[in-house]
Amino acid sequence: MSHLIGLDIGTSGTKAIVITPAGEILATASAGYPCQHPRPLWSEQDPEDWWQATIKVVRAVVKQADLKPADVAAIGLSGQMHGSVFLDKAGEVIRPALLWNDQRTAAECEEIESRAGGRKALIRMVANPALTGFQAPKILWLRNNEPKNFNRLAKVLLPKDEIRRRLTGEFATEVSDASGTLLLDVAKRQWSKKLLGKLELDADLLPTCYESEEVTGTLTADVAKQLGLSTDCKVVGGAGDCAAGAVGTGIVKHGLLSSSLGTSGVMFVHSDEPQFDPQGRLHTFCHAVRGKWHMMGVILSAGGSLGWFHHTLCTLVTREGKRKQIASFDQLIDEAAATPAGADGLQFLPYLAGERTPHLDPHARGALVGLTLAHGRGHIVRSILEGVTFALRDSLALIEGLDVPVRTVRATGGGAKNPFWRQMQADVFGKKVVAMAADEGPAYGVALLAAVGAGEYKNIEEACKATVKTTEETKPDAKTRKAYDEAFPRYQRLYEALKNEFPR
Ligand code: XUL
Repeated sequence: MSHLIGLDIGTSGTKAIVITPAGEILATASAGYPCQHPRPLWSEQDPEDWWQATIKVVRAVVKQADLKPADVAAIGLSGQMHGSVFLDKAGEVIRPALLWNDQRTAAECEEIESRAGGRKALIRMVANPALTGFQAPKILWLRNNEPKNFNRLAKVLLPKDEIRRRLTGEFATEVSDASGTLLLDVAKRQWSKKLLGKLELDADLLPTCYESEEVTGTLTADVAKQLGLSTDCKVVGGAGDCAAGAVGTGIVKHGLLSSSLGTSGVMFVHSDEPQFDPQGRLHTFCHAVRGKWHMMGVILSAGGSLGWFHHTLCTLVTREGKRKQIASFDQLIDEAAATPAGADGLQFLPYLAGERTPHLDPHARGALVGLTLAHGRGHIVRSILEGVTFALRDSLALIEGLDVPVRTVRATGGGAKNPFWRQMQADVFGKKVVAMAADEGPAYGVALLAAVGAGEYKNIEEACKATVKTTEETKPDAKTRKAYDEAFPRYQRLYEALKNEFPR
């Protein structure tokens, strides 16, 4: 039997799924881990936590689906993008990994743009401006701030590729995730020797770069035994979580767009050519579809904003230090739904970790503006959901500005599972929003890439056609849409009013 495993090394946890070649889901499991914030705006994780979670979830799905070692033909890897796993010559992790939402590298971003000959020249080389979360500025940060660690450095891997190394012993990545390092010539789909030269970085630091469905190795004997799988099990390139999530929702041809609401929020559109927003506010990356690209707007705190509210303000901490949740997410959303569109004038800026699209501003901060005695918790939650959805609308506007016709939005992630938030997306975007039958996120997309790598399908377009199905459609409600159309410019003006204050 040729079952496939999809693995997603996320920010809040790792998830595994098992599917049949027809796309039927047989088992799912997840395991969480913490994120450290040693200083404001720093964000780190221990790769060992990802690995322990990987072992746990793979063993769990193998057990749930009652699989024999020979039953799994291939594994696809997905994960949080942009992170940096620094390894020495012996393969030891040198320090905790810096994550995609870490904002410590503003000085290194300036250094990169200046070494490249300016932002425009950099965009010509690697299709994107230098953004604090990307991997290249993190490597320079290590060189500038921790020279002892930098001197030990032999390889830098992205999070999912560190898991690949532990599974297969290979140093490899693939084009979609490699695009987010800022070191890939995105148009040519290969490492940019030119930029590496300008940054004085050794090309040997980087792994071999494949297309997403290509086989990058097979499981080592020890790992196969530990996981209950076979050494014939292939590991395909996979994809960064954004491209993987998009494949899982069938965004593999022109005119299709997805919104994804996880910790981050992403508006993702397929493109047959590498197209650019001249100001670099949208990322232009290689797609996990061979020879294709995608553009996306990324907001850093989407579900993360709601998660922050829930974690910090809906928790009691007992004298013994035990945390007790005083409201569930469902309860919070029900309270929000009982308040009017526009939250009676309360507005939230979701820039809790700075922001990428559309502001490219690591200094941006979250804000709750317009509070009165009449506002309750439901208003606050509603304003958070609205602020996050407005932030995605900013990205949608940039995508439509590139003349990409968007009629329908395929919604995925936690925010898509909730009917109230789905309706809010339809109303804020003014578009039909459809939900997916198998909403297992990036893990599903890379399981499909694994199916292609295992020879079950000719290419990923064929795999998606055979497996990806949409379900419920949510249409915009004219009255609510009008209320949001009025509130949206107010939301946009708020950042303009505050932006000079943030760095102060
Ligand atoms: C994409 C990005 C985030 C992370 C989160 O550019 O930074 O979506 O990949 O997992």
